[in-house]
Amino acid sequence: MNNFKNLRGTVDLLPTQLIKWQNVEKIILEQLFRSSVKEIRTPILEMTELFMRGIGEGTDVVSKEMYTFLDRGERSCTLRPEGTASVARALIQNGIVTKPSQKLWYMGPMFRYERPQAGRQRQFHQLGVEFIGYENVRSDIEIIALAWDILEKLGIKELNLEINTLGDQIDRSNFQKEFLKWIEINKNFLDLDSQKRIDKNPLRILDTKNIQTKNILRDAPRLFDYLSEKSLKRYLTFKENLKLLKIPFIENFNLVRGLDYYTHTAFEFTSGSLGSQATVCGGGRYDNLFSQMGGKETPAIGFAIGLERLILLAGEEFEKNREIDIYIINKGICAELMAIELSRELRNYDLLTEIDLSGSSLSKQFKKANKLKTKSIIVIGEEEALKNKFIIRMFTKEESENQEESILLEDKTKLKKWLKSNLLHKGSFSI
Ligand code: HAM
Repeated sequence: MNNFKNLRGTVDLLPTQLIKWQNVEKIILEQLFRSSVKEIRTPILEMTELFMRGIGEGTDVVSKEMYTFLDRGERSCTLRPEGTASVARALIQNGIVTKPSQKLWYMGPMFRYERPQAGRQRQFHQLGVEFIGYENVRSDIEIIALAWDILEKLGIKELNLEINTLGDQIDRSNFQKEFLKWIEINKNFLDLDSQKRIDKNPLRILDTKNIQTKNILRDAPRLFDYLSEKSLKRYLTFKENLKLLKIPFIENFNLVRGLDYYTHTAFEFTSGSLGSQATVCGGGRYDNLFSQMGGKETPAIGFAIGLERLILLAGEEFEKNREIDIYIINKGICAELMAIELSRELRNYDLLTEIDLSGSSLSKQFKKANKLKTKSIIVIGEEEALKNKFIIRMFTKEESENQEESILLEDKTKLKKWLKSNLLHKGSFSI
């Protein structure tokens, strides 16, 4: 027999773990809904060319980490490593780029062939938010405030916001010329990884984790000093606005992000509680992506939160399961069918109902209900079923005070009244 296992870097999310995921996702979706951000769903599989053009061939993601293969029609396909390029493609293709501007979100699996470790997987999940057609600094602030509020609503501790500006393309190419001259003189002092980046993606050298290279880089030219007056003014206004909104931040001039499409604002949220993979959310402005991909010039900004890291950070309170409101105990052919009929009726209310399908003795079913700590039970024995009746009982701390009622199946008014006075909160009727 073959013992199948999941692939390295992928995980099964089991029902008990998913309680936390679902509770966290609920809070996120509520925040997005309240901010009028609309959902977009794009395919998980795209043409490889999209990511090469969108993210940049010199990036680690494209050059080392993509899951790329030829399909049966010999087309090169890639499992999406991120969502921004796909969203841009979808909007260009469907002709809905900027009129009106779009506030969009997506959630789902992404794939990168990285070395797996805590908080880093090969199949992981992101919540992405993209504001498309927005140029003003206020959109940078609004989107960062949205990310901040989501993280704060989830009780994430030791949260830091790091910001930087990458200027526009001209600023960056002016800087790159000087930076490369400096590198030429200092390249032998750089670590091997950084040396490999000189030809492919020199800006990423700034992002190194190597302490020695970090120290040497202190004397390197700074991108900040090559910003045009316009880019500098934009950045200063951005910082000023963050301060006015009392959103604390740290400036990190070495924050360049790993994807080529960024311009101006770049940011990351890190948490001290995460260990080495500390970035829970990363994002920035990408004003050239749409035109690079054949669309119209379209300013845009976005972020993505790594959901695995978010789940690691979210508190235990999100692990709580909702308690069962009603457990339906039943025995005998008529009773079993009646139980199903009743459970269908109960689905009309905001209640959590579970029907016992075991067919075992009533006493065993009672034991199960006790174990589940259900708030109430419905009992349908053969005798009740013949009279088309059921007994519903509310458990209280004092057994003598348990509320019990015998109700006819067709008497929906009586059932509703009982539920209203015992189980349902005011306003929780969905019919
Ligand atoms: P990113 O920084 O590559 O940005 O990824 C965003 C977040 O996804 C990271 O901060 C991290 O939390 C999570 N993440 C990335 N790789 C892994 C992994 N291998 N395992 C677990 N979590 C991971 C982007 O993807 C951009 N598309 C964000 C963006 C949207 N920029 C503008 N709009």
